Amino acid sequence: MEPKRALVLGASQGLGAHIAVRLAEDGWSVTGVGRRPRQVTALDGSVEYLQADLSQAETLVELPKLVAGCPDLIVHSAVTYHDFGVSVPTLDELEQVFRVNALLPYRLLHQLLSDKPGDRFCSCVVLNSDAIFHARRLSGIYAASKAALRVLTTMLADTFRADNASVSTLLLGPLADAKKTADLQRIATKRGMSPEELTKAFLRRSNPDLVIDELIDFESCYLSLRHLVELGAVANGSLYRLDGGSAGSLI
Ligand SMILES: NC(=O)c1ccc[n+]([C@@H]2O[C@H](COP(=O)([O-])OP(=O)(O)OC[C@H]3O[C@@H](n4cnc5c(N)ncnc54)[C@H](OP(=O)(O)O)[C@@H]3O)[C@@H](O)[C@H]2O)c1
Repeated sequence: MEPKRALVLGASQGLGAHIAVRLAEDGWSVTGVGRRPRQVTALDGSVEYLQADLSQAETLVELPKLVAGCPDLIVHSAVTYHDFGVSVPTLDELEQVFRVNALLPYRLLHQLLSDKPGDRFCSCVVLNSDAIFHARRLSGIYAASKAALRVLTTMLADTFRADNASVSTLLLGPLADAKKTADLQRIATKRGMSPEELTKAFLRRSNPDLVIDELIDFESCYLSLRHLVELGAVANGSLYRLDGGSAGSLI
């Protein structure tokens, strides 16, 4: 039997790279997408890699041709931010963030699902962030793009509800990514604390709504994603939160 095909957008580093490699380990035939050259990705040889820029309209034409038909799984992990040093981004900078985080992925998923043969099932898992619950000065633009993504994701779930597909959201809290981990390690060394103690203090101060004392590890995110995929069609439209409980149980 042919292995199932997965497409991971934003697979060159971070969580997307972890998901791509883990899917390959679990027997999927995986194609990852990012802008940087393959040699400087965090991927090993188990993942095929395509260079494409999700801020460019041509990508909507070129990527589906390269992918050759709708895969069995699509994961959208790509993300970009505006320059936090700039208090009021230009219209172009704003548009760039919304294009990569929400608009291009929406159009791409729409196109791939529209082209899918009716008898083939496809899962789409869209990574989102608990930032959508907070309108903050620095992260507000990222949060707004992710809020747009959240609505567009559910719109896709409704659009393709009768078409043998599942479109779901995996909403995450603060991850143990390389930058946060290194920053916390550096500050802990400077202060003579353990990284665990500092992380606990950092999480309690940075977001008093969090009920976790550790950053969320990539493997737990992967297991959550796999759960959504294994649920099949019943996961359509669902929101799976692995976010440290930061928004409280009533939202
Ligand atoms: N990190 C956290 O604490 C956190 C918390 C909650 C939710 N999340 C969500 O989890 C997901 C993964 O986050 P992460 O921190 O692992 O991300 P990351 O390390 O910043 O990686 C982002 C990925 O997106 C790709 N990308 C960025 N702009 C692109 C473009 N124009 N075209 C194509 N690819 C592009 C990057 O590849 P290139 O640079 O090669 O283009 C990279 O592979 C995101 O959706 C994020 O919102 C993260």
